[in-house]
Amino acid sequence: MNEMTPVEMPGKTKPKFGSGPVPKHVAIVMDGNGRWANARGLTRIEGHKAGELALLDVVAGAIEAGVEYLTVFAFSTENWKRSPEEVRFLMGYNVEVLRRRRDQLNAWGVRIRWAGRPKRLWRSVTRELDAAEVLTQKNSKLTLTMCVNYGSRQEIIDAVNQLAGEVALGKLKAGQITERQLERAFNSSFVPDVDLFIRSSGEQRISNFLLWQSAYAELVFDDTPWPDFDRRNLWNAISDFTNRDRRFGAAVDKPAKRNRAK
Ligand code: IPE
Ligand code: IPE
Ligand code: MG
Repeated sequence: MNEMTPVEMPGKTKPKFGSGPVPKHVAIVMDGNGRWANARGLTRIEGHKAGELALLDVVAGAIEAGVEYLTVFAFSTENWKRSPEEVRFLMGYNVEVLRRRRDQLNAWGVRIRWAGRPKRLWRSVTRELDAAEVLTQKNSKLTLTMCVNYGSRQEIIDAVNQLAGEVALGKLKAGQITERQLERAFNSSFVPDVDLFIRSSGEQRISNFLLWQSAYAELVFDDTPWPDFDRRNLWNAISDFTNRDRRFGAAVDKPAKRNRAK
C-alpha cells in the first residue's frame, strides 16, 4: 500500500456488479489472523500484523465501489479472554495502526469513528481513536467505524439501561419506547442498518457483532483468512449482494408459466 489515491491502485479492476444497488453499509468480521500465522509457523501476533494492509486495501475498494459506511470488528468484548501478551499486543497495535494510517485515510476523505465500550479499554487506545475522529470529522467519502472493545449485547444492554434511567427521570414513558429511541442510545448510533455482513476465514457465525443492526443484512462468508483478504474479496461479496433479492418479509406473487403439454 502506498500514498496513491485509492482509484489509482493498479492491477485490480472492479467487476461489473449485478442489477441491485451497491450496499450502503458493509460490516466485516476481520477473522483468521491467528490461524493464518500458525499455519506458516508464525505466532498469532505476526498474523495480526499481516492484517493491516488488508484493511487499507479493503477501505480503498469500498471507496471505489461507492460504499458509504464500512464497519470493522477489531477487538470484541470477548477478546479479553485471550492471553495477556496477545491482548497487550492488540491494544498497542490499534494505537500504532491509527497513528500510521490516519493521515492516509484522511487524504482519502475517510471519516474515522469508533464504537465500543470505553470501560476497560486502554486509555491510550481511546485517546488515539478520539484523535483520529477529530482529525477526520469533516470527511464524508466513507465512514470507517472501528469496533474496539465492541460487543453487540453489551451495546444493547447499555442502551436499555440509559433509557431506563430516562424513564426514571420522567423524560421517557415506560411502555412507549420505540426502535429509534433504542438505536439512538447505541454507541454505534451513527451507523445505519447493515446491508452486507462479511466474515473472513470460513467461520460462519456472528460472534456478537452488530446483532440489532444486521437484522436484515445479507450474509457472505469468505474462506480467505483476513491477512490474504483484499478489495477483490470485498467486490466479490458486493457482486453477490447486488444479485440477491432482498424481500424484508414482503412477497410478490409470480407463478411460473405451466407447461400445458403435460
Ligand atoms: C481476528 O483474527 C482478529 C481479532 C480477533 C483481533 P483472530 O485472532 O481471531 O484469528 P483466528 O480466528 O484465531 O485465526
Ligand atoms: C470476532 O472474532 C472478533 C473480531 C474479529 C475482532 P473471534 O475470533 O474473536 O470470534 P470467535 O471466538 O471465533 O467466535
Ligand atoms: Mg478468530
